[in-house]
Amino acid sequence: MKIAIPKERRPGETRVAGSPEVVKKLTGFGFDVIVEKGAGENAAFTDDAFKQAGATIAKDAASALKQADVVLKILRPTSPELGMLKKGCVLIAYLQAMTNKTEVNAYAKAGITAFAMELMPRISRAQSMDILSSQSNLAGYLAVLEGAVNFGSAFPMMMTAAGTVPPAKVFIMGVGVAGLQAIATAKRLGAVVTATDVRPATKEQVESLGGKFLAVDPEMEKDAQTEGGYAKQMPPEYFEKQKQVVSEHIKKQDVVITTALIPGRPAPVLVSEDMVKTMKPGSVIVDLAVEAGGNCPLAQLGKIVEKHGVKIVGHENMPGRLAADASALFAKNLFNFISPHVDAEKKTLNFDWEDETVTGSLVTRGGKVVNEALSASKPAAQKPAAKKPAAKKPAAKKGN
Ligand code: NAI
Repeated sequence: MKIAIPKERRPGETRVAGSPEVVKKLTGFGFDVIVEKGAGENAAFTDDAFKQAGATIAKDAASALKQADVVLKILRPTSPELGMLKKGCVLIAYLQAMTNKTEVNAYAKAGITAFAMELMPRISRAQSMDILSSQSNLAGYLAVLEGAVNFGSAFPMMMTAAGTVPPAKVFIMGVGVAGLQAIATAKRLGAVVTATDVRPATKEQVESLGGKFLAVDPEMEKDAQTEGGYAKQMPPEYFEKQKQVVSEHIKKQDVVITTALIPGRPAPVLVSEDMVKTMKPGSVIVDLAVEAGGNCPLAQLGKIVEKHGVKIVGHENMPGRLAADASALFAKNLFNFISPHVDAEKKTLNFDWEDETVTGSLVTRGGKVVNEALSASKPAAQKPAAKKPAAKKPAAKKGN
């Protein structure tokens, strides 16, 4: 069985869906692994390292993809890449299937068995396969560093002969995987950290990391979490209350990191322009939700802008800025997903089609779109347009 790992071609993508460590494990199963020349060059994985791990280096995308039985990718294929995949090939990637239904239909039409890794169910067994989690963790860490370098003062309290530098006040909005890592990182740097979330379970998590929880309305938050562990869309009354609580708090903050997302919907607006106007000059907002439309409407995708004296960081593909770690973890997620289905004797993949991790992430098979989550969702609510700097409309879900 041939597994191909092509170079990512979408603009700004630095990651690669394989690492030498994972290639070694795959060749250890007896698979032929074909890595496209230069696929890992932005992630510090050389062709030589892949070769030493047992891979063959293909000179271009076509020679890697045309013969592949399985294709491992970070982002969904471009049209030319899709045209290179053979019928019956298994595609495993971050397909952004909920917001790219036309492309999902194209995979079905091309006879591809496609797995959208972002739809992996949030069950304990699947934690090691969760690409959203592995990438958000790195994004949360880097968001704090971005906040620190764009803030004109130090994070830790410093008592020097020349005087005392007060600790920075960091406020994290949204305490999922990225938010928790952001709290831990900001604490390690010596900041005074507060955080808020709609899901009540996060209060204890914030406190266990040494942060202070900012509660909005514990009564309304009782029912804020879906069975899958995600936040629900909250009613307008909640946002009104949240606005009041956050408005008071944000005035005193130095760095605000926003990470709030609702799967399949534009990100909720948590920091309005009026709130930005009240923030201290020189303070910083890092909007990790910018690819989903942003938690702050002033954030611009791919840019750092200054508005009302506040720097607003809207980097695209934050995990891609830590490409080596992001690729290594992503590759491991893919490996952990496929390895239970390896038929070691026949040296092939033999998927258990009843397995929850398979049924949850499988989007096309046998020429059809097969995923329940996709057929249940309404296309209109799923398709926020990408918010490029000049565009006026809101944007699409996170790019990791
Ligand atoms: P996410 O990336 O979808 O959202 C980030 C955070 O924003 C969430 O904590 C959410 O509650 C919060 N949020 C949404 N709307 C908000 C609002 N209006 N105001 C304030 N906060 C708001 O979430 P993520 O990081 O993917 O994690 C969600 C949960 O899933 C967490 O509890 C995490 O531990 C869990 N999880 C479970 C996994 C597993 O069991 N396999 C794997 C990964 C995460």
